Amino acid sequence: MEDILKRLDHLNRAAELGGGQARIDRQHEVGKLSARERIDLLLDDESFVELDKFVTHQCTDFGMENKKIPGDGVVTGYGRVDGRLVYVFAQDFTVFGGSLSGAYAKKICKIMDLAMSVGAPVIGLNDSGGARIQEGVVSLAGYADIFLRNTLASGVVPQISAILGPCAGGAVYSPAITDFIFMVDDTSYMFITGPEVVKTVTSEEVTKQELGGPKVHSETSGVSHFRCASEDECIAEIRTLLGFLPSNNADDAPLVPTSDPVDRRDEALKTLVPTDAQKPYDMSELIGHVLDDGFFLQVHEAFARNMLCGFGRLAGKTVGIVANQPSFLAGCLDINASVKAARFVRFCDAFNIPLVTLVDVPGFLPGVDQEYGGIIKHGAKLLYAFAEATVPKVTLITRKAYGGAYDVMASKHIRADINLAYPTAEIAVMGPDGAVNIVYRNELKNAADPVATKAEYVDKYRETFANPFKAAELGYIDAIIHPEDTRPRLIDALAMLENKRQDNPPRKHGNIPL
Ligand code: HXC
Repeated sequence: MEDILKRLDHLNRAAELGGGQARIDRQHEVGKLSARERIDLLLDDESFVELDKFVTHQCTDFGMENKKIPGDGVVTGYGRVDGRLVYVFAQDFTVFGGSLSGAYAKKICKIMDLAMSVGAPVIGLNDSGGARIQEGVVSLAGYADIFLRNTLASGVVPQISAILGPCAGGAVYSPAITDFIFMVDDTSYMFITGPEVVKTVTSEEVTKQELGGPKVHSETSGVSHFRCASEDECIAEIRTLLGFLPSNNADDAPLVPTSDPVDRRDEALKTLVPTDAQKPYDMSELIGHVLDDGFFLQVHEAFARNMLCGFGRLAGKTVGIVANQPSFLAGCLDINASVKAARFVRFCDAFNIPLVTLVDVPGFLPGVDQEYGGIIKHGAKLLYAFAEATVPKVTLITRKAYGGAYDVMASKHIRADINLAYPTAEIAVMGPDGAVNIVYRNELKNAADPVATKAEYVDKYRETFANPFKAAELGYIDAIIHPEDTRPRLIDALAMLENKRQDNPPRKHGNIPL
């Protein structure tokens, strides 16, 4: 018995040391934590329960039969975040560069299967050189097993990926299928092919960070949803995000009591939206005035800044906010903004998180780049996402709602439940200037004083369309509210909608314009 206990101790120690102290020290030198340190930071104290600690790879090629480390490069198990169950895997770069073997893939699949059967989030802490070269197709098969589970778990349990080192080749597709990707400055990167291959194929010279670092994926490609300055910040942010999410698609998100009164009126909102439609303002400031304790967790903060997406709470309950941002590109809808918001809306809908949409949109961004880039199909994604969403949907038009963008931004016509407007709202096919130029082209051509005549027509147009009254007459707007009442009105609408039930027609699945 003593021998067995000694052996157990030895195996435990060996597994915990991974690739050895020297390699752990190397991790620290390059500004990275070890896999176990990351798990400790992520989970509530003493809550981690490890599984498959003694699993080893089964490879016998390239002398690998003599190189076995218990655990084989990935630490897997379950634990708690703020008392709630989560499953986690942390790739251990100290063991064969964190590369994925068949046995390692099975460990990840095991916790994914458990997470699916009990309905709990999966958090992947990625730091890996990709497929284990010595295992060849066995490793590729292992990746595919994980991709399949990522796909089947999508919309059932939240899946979160933190990229905390390399993530290259086909390995990127597991995080890509998950709901949220976090990256850390200086130490993480993601690409399909690295700088060497890029140079050979296209003659472009780039560094790893230029090709796939957090900046490029947060600002340009939109692959990453959260960019963090350090691993500590990243892991703290994952915990914050989890606090907004239900554990699965049948549970409610946690209720977080607040001392922020539900009937709080906010005088600052009286003047926050300028009446001059050309004047920008910061929609995130408006959101801050409305949400519980002003707390708004932005998703994709640095990507498509003309659209704001993120989580907050109203009366302690999670809401998903989608809002045009007039202080960037005038808040217009373009390809990136549409794709960003569409994915966010679908996440919220999948996990029963009510949507609050704040509208101040001059329309779709015109231009050859946008047309060639497929704004038609990308804009349609957002339209489709809002239209198919069956969660409670409350929309508030703060100022402009022009053209197709009015329809797209959770209008009454695509099944928003409650549509509100400020008195400053303008709902029309287009802005007064453009409209007058088209409708009164002949009159303006023949006018003795075209400037004065145009001003007259613009005034007339404004009077007719640049207000919310016509839409309210038709019932497209349910109520015109005073801006200072925004918070109580939104909370009231969401409370009224709490038991909303709505189904889409039975079908295998729709065909969102991808
Ligand atoms: C086996 C690997 C490995 C891999 C790294 N190692 N990647 N072993 N398979 N894929 C080992 C190294 O041999 C080394 O072992 C140790 O891990 C640390 O690696 P270093 O190169 O010393 O570290 P570093 O300088 O930090 O560079 C990290 C790296 C580099 C950039 C990740 O190792 C690298 O380029 N690795 C290969 C990446 C790659 O091409 N992977 C396949 C991608 S395709 P020793 O014992 O010497 O310390 C792919 C397909 C997935 O993943 C398909 C899914 C469908």
